[in-house]
Amino acid sequence: MALKKFLLGEDRSEEGISRSAVREIKVLREISSPFVVRLYDAFVYKSNVWVALELCTGDLEAVIKARRSGLLTYTEADIKSYMFQILSGLHHLEAHNVLHRDVKPNNIMFGVDGCLKLIDFGLSRVYPGPGTKCTPRVFNQWYRAPELLLGARAYGFPVDMWACGCTMAEIFRGTPLFASDRESELAQLSTILKTLGPPSQEELGKLAHLPHVGFLPLDRGTRGVPLQSLVPGASDLALDLIRNMLRYVPGERVTPGEALRHPFFTEGVPMTTAAELPRGVPKKGRAGGGRGSTGGEAEAGGAMGAEAGDGAKRAREEGPEEGGVKRLKGSERDALFERGAEPQSRVVEGSGVDQSRRALFEEEL
Ligand SMILES: Nc1ncnc2c1ncn2[C@@H]1O[C@H](COP(=O)(O)OP(=O)(O)O)[C@@H](O)[C@H]1O
Ligand SMILES: [Mg+2]
Repeated sequence: MALKKFLLGEDRSEEGISRSAVREIKVLREISSPFVVRLYDAFVYKSNVWVALELCTGDLEAVIKARRSGLLTYTEADIKSYMFQILSGLHHLEAHNVLHRDVKPNNIMFGVDGCLKLIDFGLSRVYPGPGTKCTPRVFNQWYRAPELLLGARAYGFPVDMWACGCTMAEIFRGTPLFASDRESELAQLSTILKTLGPPSQEELGKLAHLPHVGFLPLDRGTRGVPLQSLVPGASDLALDLIRNMLRYVPGERVTPGEALRHPFFTEGVPMTTAAELPRGVPKKGRAGGGRGSTGGEAEAGGAMGAEAGDGAKRAREEGPEEGGVKRLKGSERDALFERGAEPQSRVVEGSGVDQSRRALFEEEL
């Protein structure tokens, strides 16, 4: 199992509760799918929230990078399998009314059962229904859908599908599709428009209600770049699916259920079985680019009792650590959960300090 530790951070609510932790726990409690990381338990120790998750062994970003460095290869048959599993996870979330809101390759991991799993539900929420306002400051900017960049506050499942399209293109390309070098909505929109070409008049009409549509950097001279040159090696069917995931108008984007029935999965080379998939190697040390959710002190004693506290401390000192997650051996798990470590349903304090997480202050949990 893996233990994710939420530190005291800027995303705490007035009651001192980590919103990222609450979101992760609330959502994962309701979800059970081979394609979504499993939540075992959650508890508070001192001022940290600890979330016990199914152990995963490496993420999709590491596999993409390993292929780029020539350390492994994967084929379209493999990509079919990766995408089928990711879409199955998204399909399950949609069926349970959950928006992930942080889909990207390093939030997709390989489980020990061989399946790809969606992880990191720190930005997720239950879809509140059409018209209800949510924050548009979700996702890593490169994976943020145009309607969010245009300030939409009422949005739905198509935001996750956009990020899924970016991810599919990235698996083929080896690099992110819309990697803007500046951190701003406008710069990101401009990168998207330069790549895909500007939206048509008809599409613009359907986006006209969005708050910042007037700022759309419409350069009629730009026609975009043909998708086949952006996503080299992809078959026509793969390109068709990506195109349908990356539609400007959210309602015109393919749904996970439709995507799973797309001919990409049923025609041409059959997809690789999960057991045969290239999975890469688990990362050593702390994951880069995260929000640095480790670093606090877990002390012996306190609410969990000395033994459990010692277990946590030992895990910290000895266990390999990846961006906020400690890997525990069976005996360490016992120390934490079975010898007097009473899991608590109350959640206090946590971390989550990036921009998106700060924006969550605005939202009701
Ligand atoms: N269940 C897990 N098993 C193994 N490693 C994990 C697991 N969940 C997360 N990790 C590792 O910890 C990193 C950070 O976890 P994540 O849930 O993505 O939080 P955040 O990105 O918000 O810090 C991941 O990128 C991954 O390397
Ligand atoms: Mg993450």
